[in-house]
Amino acid sequence: MRGQLKSYTQNKVIFSEGDVGDCAYLIEKGRVLIYVNKGDTEIALKVLGEGEVFGEMSLIDNSPRSASCRAIGDAHLIVVTKDQLIDRIQDADPVVRLLMRALLERLRSQNDSIRGKKIASKPKKAETHDKDTKEAVERIELENRIFNALNNDEFAPYYQPIYDLKTCKICGCEALLRWITPAKEVISPAIFMDVVEESALVLQAGKVAIEKCMRDLPRLRKAVGDGDFYVSVNVSGRQFADPQFVSHLEESRERLNVKPSEIKLEVTERVMTEGPVALATLQKCRELGYLLAIDDFGTGFSSLQYLASMPLTDLKIDRSFVMKVLSDEKSLSIVKSLIHMAGLLGLSLIAEGIETHEQLKLLRDLGVDSGQGYVFSKAIPCDEFVKLTSPFIPQSA
Ligand code: C2E
Ligand code: CMP
Ligand code: CA
Ligand code: CA
Repeated sequence: MRGQLKSYTQNKVIFSEGDVGDCAYLIEKGRVLIYVNKGDTEIALKVLGEGEVFGEMSLIDNSPRSASCRAIGDAHLIVVTKDQLIDRIQDADPVVRLLMRALLERLRSQNDSIRGKKIASKPKKAETHDKDTKEAVERIELENRIFNALNNDEFAPYYQPIYDLKTCKICGCEALLRWITPAKEVISPAIFMDVVEESALVLQAGKVAIEKCMRDLPRLRKAVGDGDFYVSVNVSGRQFADPQFVSHLEESRERLNVKPSEIKLEVTERVMTEGPVALATLQKCRELGYLLAIDDFGTGFSSLQYLASMPLTDLKIDRSFVMKVLSDEKSLSIVKSLIHMAGLLGLSLIAEGIETHEQLKLLRDLGVDSGQGYVFSKAIPCDEFVKLTSPFIPQSA
């Protein structure tokens, strides 16, 4: 049925109210009439024309057709299958799904009242307590809690040291955001980052991360001692698409007396889907002297085209490869190819998620420049970071 074209002549009924809905339609050409029956009388609800969709309600709420439909003149329709529609709805934000359902319920009850049917005075319990509603309520509640926590200054970066694998000295660190509640509970990004990244909160959270890590930078740098040192900060695609991103970044940097070469901006390949503004922002940051790393490389689209068009300085090998580098030939081959490719492209290579001395030794022997992971340290508050000892003593050295 997918992709099928259907033609109807004048007055031909396409479906009737109460039918089981198996597909929706897009009007390619012509017009259709949506109507309901009140006794023997037909009541017109709407005339739809080219480019409009109908027959979607019964698929979305899994109920019988809410109205009837017939062609006005010749109508050419494109069939939209249930799968095509449902796949997209399943992927939507739970709050959007809830809104959609609320609108459908209202439309159905409007049609019922046009038909002269009595409106139920009690809400249907099952519908108000189902999975979608629960998910949507939880989502809105979490978003509100995060919004309040941001305004209450409850977010701060923890720092995970990054070691030069040759010298085993700290060469930088990654700022990883934590939510520290008034009860001192430390909440991980796994709980809040998806919600933050999918809403406008990401701009505010991003500013907090940048501002705080620049403020902590002198203490972090001093603790490590001589040599180059940088703080890596994760920046989401939406931040890069914000036209004010660079001016905010520069304003904080100048006010806090930080050099651009002390800040590494970590982006994922997803930034390339944000459009030309995001790419222009990447270019601008690089021209200003900020370091630029591609994060989680190998887990997304991993388009080599992206590697060629982004003005990168560093490539981070994703934890999923590091984890299996000793046990899985393919992961080892991927790591070796990344090392080769980074060398050819003049990129510095950082391995993340190094957990064992054996992984550390292998990655160092293969020529990976630097690394981070639990073998060295988890992400810790600034006050603890300044007590870390550098160089690190590997067991197998
Ligand atoms: P990421 O950028 O890939 O960060 C690495 C994650 O791996 C961190 O999780 C880190 O704690 C964890 N990790 C580091 N070493 C090891 C290891 O040896 N073993 C294991 N199992 N895990 C290790 P975390 O801190 O929970 O952060 C998760 C994600 O949240 C980050 O992934 C990043 O995508 C996002 N995130 C954190 N802070 C920020 C931020 O300020 N802005 C944005 N946009 N995203 C952030
Ligand atoms: P569905 O319930 O699958 O089948 C009937 C279709 O008519 C319905 O999906 C909507 O696409 C459309 N429809 C139902 N009620 C109205 C209305 N009040 N106004 C416009 N279109 C409607
Ligand atoms: Ca990162
Ligand atoms: Ca990563």
